[in-house]
Order: sequence, then structure tokens, then C-alpha cells
Amino acid sequence: MPLLSVLSLCVQYQSAQGVVRAVDDVSFDLEPGETVGLVGESGCGKSTLGKAIMRLVPTSDGRVFLDGDDVTRMQAGALKASRKSMQMIFQDPYGSLNPRHDVGTIVGQPLSVAGWLRRDIKDRVVELMGQVGLPADAMRRYPHEFSGGQRQRLGIARALALKPKVIICDEPVSALDVSVRAQVINLLEDLQQATGVSYLFISHDLSVVEHISDRLIVMYLGRIVETGRSEDVWDRPAHPYTEALLAAAPIADPRTARSRARSVLQGELPSPLNPPPGCSFSTRCPYAQALCREERPMLRDVVGGRKVACHYDLLEQPAALPRVARVAN
Ligand SMILES: Nc1ncnc2c1ncn2[C@@H]1O[C@H](COP(=O)(O)OP(=O)(O)OP(=O)(O)O)[C@@H](O)[C@H]1O
Ligand SMILES: [Mg+2]
Repeated sequence: MPLLSVLSLCVQYQSAQGVVRAVDDVSFDLEPGETVGLVGESGCGKSTLGKAIMRLVPTSDGRVFLDGDDVTRMQAGALKASRKSMQMIFQDPYGSLNPRHDVGTIVGQPLSVAGWLRRDIKDRVVELMGQVGLPADAMRRYPHEFSGGQRQRLGIARALALKPKVIICDEPVSALDVSVRAQVINLLEDLQQATGVSYLFISHDLSVVEHISDRLIVMYLGRIVETGRSEDVWDRPAHPYTEALLAAAPIADPRTARSRARSVLQGELPSPLNPPPGCSFSTRCPYAQALCREERPMLRDVVGGRKVACHYDLLEQPAALPRVARVAN
């Protein structure tokens, strides 16, 4: 049984302009100790999906099972208990740390909510500070006294306090200097080794998630367009959108750079208030055919345990298609 199971989850936002289907029929599993990377452009629904799993935003349809229990149907008491097993960390560690509280109070907050005794809280916070590589005496200091990377370590310590099984990491390194990013990512990897925690790791940048993720989920306008083992997706994207994201990602290996198709995202992201008919990527897809503008492709199984939502995916029919000329660059 998967640790976390998301089934046909939907989230709609009502705005003055109309209804946005921010998350539309999303399903995936997360196994114990696994890292799943969730990627896609800004506004595709990544944070909304993370928050909906945590029940921080209401869902309009679908289910979320944690260890077999339906989180979407839980009453307050059971939900509070499930929060011990599932935690979230955010892009802006400063915004989520109360500036008026010292670090000991902030990191120990989930423990005091859970009814721990003061002395036990203190011992656990000391332990947590060690785990995230901060000195124990940092407990008496305040968030503004820390650098961005250190603040993210504090956010991680707080998320770890109750020994969760799942941590949803929403762009945890996007706001950090490039030099600090690798340190925080290494820390998250070490903590996973030590505790067996699973991560849903959200990023708009494929190059950030690729090497830490076992599997990748690519989202476009609220829907999953591709999933698969991380290296498979990276080496051979099945969806034209993934191919375009990869072309935009920085590449360390020059051999990959040469062999990789140069596809460039054309045009603007369509309005989520009024998504295109058929495949929602068809307005920007260099390979789009008439069918793509008429019929929405379902997410279907392809080779190697992968799934793709494309009528003419790049794995099964790579050469059969008349290719539209790509933008020269
Ligand atoms: N509270 C809200 N009310 C109305 N619409 C919202 C709300 N929050 C998000 N949206 C809309 O839902 C869609 C998904 O937003 P979301 O923040 O989940 O995307 P994201 O993939 O996390 O983007 P980013 O990479 O910028 O963080 C967007 O169209 C956004 O404008
Ligand atoms: Mg977001």
C-alpha cells in the first residue's frame, strides 16, 4: 500500500473573473522513503496541489489517503493527528517563522500543540537543531538573526519535530542563493536517509528536482501531463511540454546538451480561467495536430511504467509525425 495516495483530486478557486480549475483530476502515489518531484511553470497548480493534500485549501472532488486513511473526510481530531504524519515547508522560510518568537519556541511549536511537556520539548529541539546542522544555542535567538539558508533549516527542523512520514517541500530552495541551495538539498537528502521520510518536492525548475527525485510528475494548467522515473523523463521526455521544460533547464553535461532537441516554449501560458479545448498544451505545442485541438488526451500508460497525456507522445511515435518547424534559436 502506498504511503500517500492521491486520487482524482480537484481544486477550484472562485474568483471575480470566474472559476479556475487549479488542480484538475490529479492522481499519484508516494511510497515510503521516496521522493517525487512535481514540476511545471508558475501557476500550473503545484502549491495548490500540495496545500490540498494537507487540507489547507478545500478540495472540490477526489480523495487523499495517508496510510490508508482518507484525509479528505477526516474530522478535526483525526486531521490534527494526521498532521503529525504530514508536514509542509515553504519557499519563504522567513514568512512562515514568527519574528516575535525565539527559535526554540518556533521549532518546538508543533510539539507544544501536540501536548508535549516543556522539558521534553527542549530536549527534542536540541536534537532537531543538531539534525539540521545548527548550534543548540541558536534556540535563544530570533529568526532575523539567521541567513536565508539557516532560516530554511529552522523551517525543516520544525517540520521534522513530530517525525512525519511525508514532507511536502514547496520550492524550499527557490528563494536561496545558488551557493546555499545545494547545502539545503543535501540536508534534505541526509534527513531522508536517516529518517526514511518521503518528500513531495515542488519546483518550477526541473534541474533542481531531477537529481533528488526518484520519480517526476510534470503538470500543465492543473493537470498531470507526464510521470515516470526521474532519469527516464530527463533522458527521454515523452510529452512535448516536458521536452520544452528540459530545453529551458540548465544542463551540466555538454553531451546531453548536444543530443537534446531544442524545443522552445512558444507563446504565453493560456488563461486558467479559459483553458483551450482539447489538449491544453496544443496552443504552444510545436507538434500539435488537428486532433490535439479537438480532443483532450487522457493520461495513459506507455513503456517503462511511464504515463503521458499526449495523442502523439515522443516515445511511441518519434519519427512518424510531420514535425512543425521549430523556432530557431
Ligand atoms: N487563493 C486563490 N484564489 C484564486 N485563485 C488562486 C488562488 N491561489 C492560486 N490561484 C490560482 O490557481 C492557479 C494555480 O496556482 P498555484 O499557486 O497553485 O500555482 P503554482 O504552480 O504553485 O505556481 P508558482 O510556481 O508561481 O508557485 C493559478 O492560476 C493561480 O492564479
Ligand atoms: Mg507555488
